[in-house]
Amino acid sequence: MTDNYAVIGNPIAHSKSPLIHAAFAKQTNQNISYEAILAPLNGFEATVRDLIAKGYKGANVTVPFKFEAFELCDEKTKYAEDAGAVNTLVFEENRIKGHNTDGAGLLVDITKNHLFSIANKNVLILGAGGAASGIIYSLLGASSITVANRSLDKAKQLIKNYSACQAHAITFEALNSPYDLIINATSAGLSDTALPIPNIIFSKNTLAYDMMYSRKTPFMTQARANGAQVSDGLGMLVEQAAEAFYIWRGVRPETAPVIKMMRT
Ligand code: ATR
Repeated sequence: MTDNYAVIGNPIAHSKSPLIHAAFAKQTNQNISYEAILAPLNGFEATVRDLIAKGYKGANVTVPFKFEAFELCDEKTKYAEDAGAVNTLVFEENRIKGHNTDGAGLLVDITKNHLFSIANKNVLILGAGGAASGIIYSLLGASSITVANRSLDKAKQLIKNYSACQAHAITFEALNSPYDLIINATSAGLSDTALPIPNIIFSKNTLAYDMMYSRKTPFMTQARANGAQVSDGLGMLVEQAAEAFYIWRGVRPETAPVIKMMRT
């Protein structure tokens, strides 16, 4: 019997998740279906309840519903609690369990695919919105985390739970030294807007990671021009999907061939 899953978002038409999960299912011989579902902006809960009533086993959640998903869950993992957001739902006998696989996906991509260890590294996160809050907890193994944001208050808010772990909040204007790992978690790239960041934050030892995929952002261009190693977020997208697939199916798909397929 086929088990049904979906990704819920708004907009959702361009989601790559159905392609990724279809590739995982084929590779691991899992009998599942996975579709993209557009929920009305005021209809997230109704969409989830409808899927449960139809016997779906779980769902991924994407923009803008990750916080609403967090509120809806009967039970949440520690990662979801830390992120304050949920991107993976498991439906179990009318209970909804919430996970967040974004941080794990980012960390696996950085450490396994890019062979970049975060131990003893200084990490800079650009942005303090939903994308940043979804991943900051996964970087606590670094020696320091700095969050730079246009509005300083939001950066301060984001690090307040992590003050014991060398987390700092600053403005873009205050950036004046190089970092080992820089993660662009702002949405500025969506509008091709350059961030007001100085070249000095990049060095040839820097991994500059943009959480955005399918486009070259001004951040990536600036990082490359300053000698940094550059990555987009496609690996993270596939790795967070693999974590969700594992939660649902108990099987770990191989991600490298799927990342390669998505690039071509
Ligand atoms: P997401 O869920 O994608 O993180 P968000 O919660 O709206 O979306 O957060 C967007 C982030 O990108 C914020 O940190 C925002 O900065 P502010 O908090 O100051 O608004 C940042 N951002 C968006 N456009 C930006 C720009 N042109 N320059 C600098 N930061 C920008």
